[in-house]
Amino acid sequence: MARLGAVLTAAAVLPLVLPAAPVRAEPPQAAWAASPMQPNARAGRSVVVIAHRGASAYAPENTLAAIREAGKRGADLIELDVRQTKDGKLVVIHDATLTRTTDARKKFPKRTSWRVGDLTLKQIKTLDAGAWFGKAYRGQRVPTLAEALKAVKATGDGVVLELKEPDKYPGLTQRVAALLKADRHWHVRGRTLVQSFQWSAVRDMNERLPSTIEMGLLGAPTFAEMLRSRLYADVIHVPKGSAGAGYVRQAHNALYRVYAYTVNDAASLRRLASSGVDGITTDRPDVLRAALDS
Ligand code: G3P
Ligand code: CA
Repeated sequence: MARLGAVLTAAAVLPLVLPAAPVRAEPPQAAWAASPMQPNARAGRSVVVIAHRGASAYAPENTLAAIREAGKRGADLIELDVRQTKDGKLVVIHDATLTRTTDARKKFPKRTSWRVGDLTLKQIKTLDAGAWFGKAYRGQRVPTLAEALKAVKATGDGVVLELKEPDKYPGLTQRVAALLKADRHWHVRGRTLVQSFQWSAVRDMNERLPSTIEMGLLGAPTFAEMLRSRLYADVIHVPKGSAGAGYVRQAHNALYRVYAYTVNDAASLRRLASSGVDGITTDRPDVLRAALDS
């Protein structure tokens, strides 16, 4: 779907590069602060708290337990990684292989590869995705994206979906888009961000989804790349080392909101917040929440 929202500030910044081009949505912080639809209705928060793979310091990453924990520990948004099984089902898992976060090697000892895309959902559902983290989490499974979204919805938080290596999974972008499109809950502005390191997939998702579902570029685009990508993206989600005040200012000038990842100690969280970022991704949402409140 084309984004035609005219941005007054854009007229001052973009014409040199993109004459008369449509850009996405509104200016970054003003629109965010003014929106009655911020995640969790936490109006007045200056920095969005994003729980990385759920509250992954406290529960096994990308599981329903980690999602619930994020909900309890003050997250605004819950970040999850999306991949696809051999039989074309969407699952929430970070790595390309199942070996680090499940007992795949033990369950399928005769295999020589344990890639997510080489096993069916039925096979993946037999795996334990929690025991590696701690006994208390034994029995956690690799969730489907639908199961994970249901759990996020129950927390009242918003969601950040990272499409992992979408070029390796035929049909992944279409399937994620279909799932989000089917449930208007996710269409509320500020509640859903779709992001990827593969920006072509972000551009593709932008075409498939309503403009209220936001799009994010992972990485640290140059200013020229920022201007080009502003036609289809709203957010730059940058590694913490690149999130200096100068870079953040540049991204704001190009009308993006800026999120930074992944930060877990209070001092770094405060430093990043003072560099002007609009959101921070952390394994410890409660620590960020406390640092912001203090
Ligand atoms: O959302 C940012 C962050 O999740 C990207 O890195 O490797 O943790 O998926 P990674
Ligand atoms: Ca991620």
